[in-house]
Amino acid sequence: MIEYIFDSHDRELFEYILDNIPDTITVVDKNGNVIFFNSTAEEYYRVKRSEILGKSVVDFFPGAILPKVLQQGNSYDNIYSSPRENSYVVLSAVPLKDNNGNIIGALARDRDITEIVKLSDLLNKTQSSLLQLEKQYSKIFSIGESYFSKIISNNANFISVINLCKNISKSPLNILLRGESGTGKELFAKAIHYESGRSGKFIPINCSSIPKDLFESEMFGYEAGAFTGAKSSGKMGKIEEAEGGTLFLDEIGDMPMELQPKLLRILEDGEVTRIGGNKPQKIDTRIVSATNKDIRELIKEDKFRKDLYYRLDVFQINIPPLRERKHDIVLLANNFLQLFCMEQGINIIEIPKDILDIFSAYSWEGNVRELKNVIQRCAIMAHQSSKGKIEKSFLPTYMQEIEIINQGVDCNFIDLSERNDLQQGLDHYLENVEKNIIIQTLKNTKFNKSEAAKTLKIPRATLYYKMEKYGIVE
Ligand SMILES: Nc1ncnc2c1ncn2[C@@H]1O[C@H](COP(=O)(O)OP(=O)(O)OP(=O)(O)O)[C@@H](O)[C@H]1O
Ligand SMILES: [Mg+2]
Repeated sequence: MIEYIFDSHDRELFEYILDNIPDTITVVDKNGNVIFFNSTAEEYYRVKRSEILGKSVVDFFPGAILPKVLQQGNSYDNIYSSPRENSYVVLSAVPLKDNNGNIIGALARDRDITEIVKLSDLLNKTQSSLLQLEKQYSKIFSIGESYFSKIISNNANFISVINLCKNISKSPLNILLRGESGTGKELFAKAIHYESGRSGKFIPINCSSIPKDLFESEMFGYEAGAFTGAKSSGKMGKIEEAEGGTLFLDEIGDMPMELQPKLLRILEDGEVTRIGGNKPQKIDTRIVSATNKDIRELIKEDKFRKDLYYRLDVFQINIPPLRERKHDIVLLANNFLQLFCMEQGINIIEIPKDILDIFSAYSWEGNVRELKNVIQRCAIMAHQSSKGKIEKSFLPTYMQEIEIINQGVDCNFIDLSERNDLQQGLDHYLENVEKNIIIQTLKNTKFNKSEAAKTLKIPRATLYYKMEKYGIVE
């Protein structure tokens, strides 16, 4: 039969060649009986040629692809398979046809990729332990060294806020953090706590969601049997838990009016007694509060107690919104993307310039949290689409609609907080631009005023007027 497929002259030569290639070769006739089995196959499958020749291939390999090829006449290319435990191949198979197109047999070639699979497994394991190590490292680094290093910014205003917080973190003063939602108030509160050197815990309380009826038991704790339903062992209150540490009163502006006197009493007395108990305990807790509301306005509306406010707002820190620090948008976007890709073990994804322009033009009402969410959403979509970069269609619809009107102008350039000339207002800024252009044109024309006026497309009289206005002399 093999003589029928291979020319008898060349048979020895063919066999010699096929025996010496590193892939296994199996050839069957149209009935699925093996008519050729090369020596690589003998070695790899540990089946002797003399045993298999003339026998049905499925007797030796029940899952073999060759009967399928004979039946359907299709070719298969690079199919991943594991013929036995810890052994991996990619296999290809083709039907063999005579001159009239009739199937007279089929050939399968398997390439051993066991080593590659093992190496890739090793690489995956190494990558995931590297990630674990990086996580551990960043934990040690951020807490041991400075939690403030987690707060990322390149903006002069914002950096001065960070430095101010660092400086006051070691003092016992109560701090009120003010900033829009998502600006990083909790991040700052934690950084202040870890930088303070206080040995106690950081205990956060959300003042808007704490149930009124449970306020006292949550804050003061209770003794065993203090009321029906109380735990038999009693319970530590949040204030006690934060002993020697920091109590973070989040969303303080939303604390119900009827609870405010209770909090005030704790702050004034400087001690706390568990419900059902009779031993007041002195408290040594630093209070850091946070709000996105203007508490002075709330006081005017009788929604916040003035006396409580002055206890909490010993030192106020204002965290600027993201749209006032345009440079930070790009910095944070790249940072979040890099971290997210690393955590998820996905390839680094690029943020093209047109997307960064949209980011810079967008108002980010949800501030850094919103940016982080958008980046994570885009990273997942970019990964799923195998594009390797963020595309406009991955952005939320409301962001896709943003028109970049200042094409050609770097959006990051206009950052009010970082440019002194812009801080003095738009008119002043534009006058400076005009002055510089006039000086440059005059220099280019060697102070030939009529040529300069022509270049600038303004009347000569206007040029003279502006030179005088800006004090430009030759
Ligand atoms: N400058 C920054 N650098 C790095 N990450 C930041 C920065 N600012 C905020 N984040 C991150 O943004 C997210 C929102 O921050 P955070 O929860 O502290 O905001 P918030 O002001 O408390 O918001 P809310 O008022 O809605 O409670 C967090 O994941 C935080 O780690
Ligand atoms: Mg918060």
